[in-house]
Amino acid sequence: MSSLFTPFTLKDVTLRNRIVVSPMCQYSAEDGVVNDWHHVHLAGLARGGAGLVVAEATAVSPEGRITPGCAGIWSDEQIEPWKKAVGLMKAAGAVPGIQIGHAGRKASANRPWEGDDHIAASDPRGWETLAPSDIEFGANLPKVPKAMTIADIERIKADFVAAAKRALAAGFEWLELHFAHGYLGQNFFSTWSNKRTDNYGGNFDGRARFLLETLAAVRDVWPEHLPLAARFGVTEFDGTDDLEEGIEMVRRFKDGGLDIIDVSIGFSTPTANIPWGPAFMAPIAQRVRREVGLPATTSWFISQPKQADALIADDMVDMVSLGRPLLANSHWPYQAALELGVDKPSWTLPAQYAHWLERYRTA
Ligand SMILES: Cc1cc2nc3c(=O)[nH]c(=O)nc-3n(C[C@H](O)[C@H](O)[C@H](O)COP(=O)(O)O)c2cc1C
Repeated sequence: MSSLFTPFTLKDVTLRNRIVVSPMCQYSAEDGVVNDWHHVHLAGLARGGAGLVVAEATAVSPEGRITPGCAGIWSDEQIEPWKKAVGLMKAAGAVPGIQIGHAGRKASANRPWEGDDHIAASDPRGWETLAPSDIEFGANLPKVPKAMTIADIERIKADFVAAAKRALAAGFEWLELHFAHGYLGQNFFSTWSNKRTDNYGGNFDGRARFLLETLAAVRDVWPEHLPLAARFGVTEFDGTDDLEEGIEMVRRFKDGGLDIIDVSIGFSTPTANIPWGPAFMAPIAQRVRREVGLPATTSWFISQPKQADALIADDMVDMVSLGRPLLANSHWPYQAALELGVDKPSWTLPAQYAHWLERYRTA
């Protein structure tokens, strides 16, 4: 019996298996509005058999986009195209999820394949970036952000709330707050980017405040019966012993009503020394899951079905999140079902494909 293909229920939502499409920016929206590209992309991933598809980091405000091509959910006009994506994902049997976020000091960048660096100050496509303190990330992202005022903080929290309401209106059943990867949530938490001397900086409680207030405000409007997730960098791999603090933050998330944590990396400094390797985040996710007592997922170099299955079987995580393996092969779940000897593996895919593949698989 495969653990990877055991359904997973969280609140009122049941996933057909433990395979998650990790959120992946497509940098292909116009004015934040998603289009045919996103529809085909998300529908294809859902058709491939994953239990949950989490749509890309979607900006809660225009200045919260990473690049000019990033998706948004800051206006009502953006709801309808998202609704279409939701319908396509559901029709293929996946639970539709979305990640909402604000890119903080990493915003206003060129698309990865067009430089992956900050848009030059002289280029009218760029914009002023916002962060807790006026400290730049450095390396390819040298732009100095504006230190947010209390009014900025209040406005962006309200933007998260409005975005959550729009996500619900679009039909999403799973909402993930993007508090990782050196974007705004992580900017507040990390001492690399937060040198504030007011209530939103300084000690742990100060640096946690923006994240916890945003979570509380979103939880108020996101239905209790639907899962609320967060992606958070529990460690920076910057040579400091920061994991304890990261775990404490997740504990606070749990107390604040979070349902599941996507355990990730801080990416707050270009000087980090990340120990890349197959499923290298899984032991950390396991520790977070055990110590906090909250369902967890993680990603990063989980590409082999047996490895993915073992992560579930060994209770390290509740679901595995995959990015690039699914870009390479959206039918990875079907291939995994074959490899793991799942009964009627073709039925990992929708009937339109499954019937034919199952019929001839054994012929
Ligand atoms: C094209 C691309 C876009 C990504 N965009 C996002 C994103 O929007 N939000 C996010 O949290 N992570 C993003 N990531 C990271 C992935 O979600 C995932 O964690 C990462 O690719 C590691 O998993 P993998 O080894 O299975 O690819 C992106 C990764 C890729 C390859």
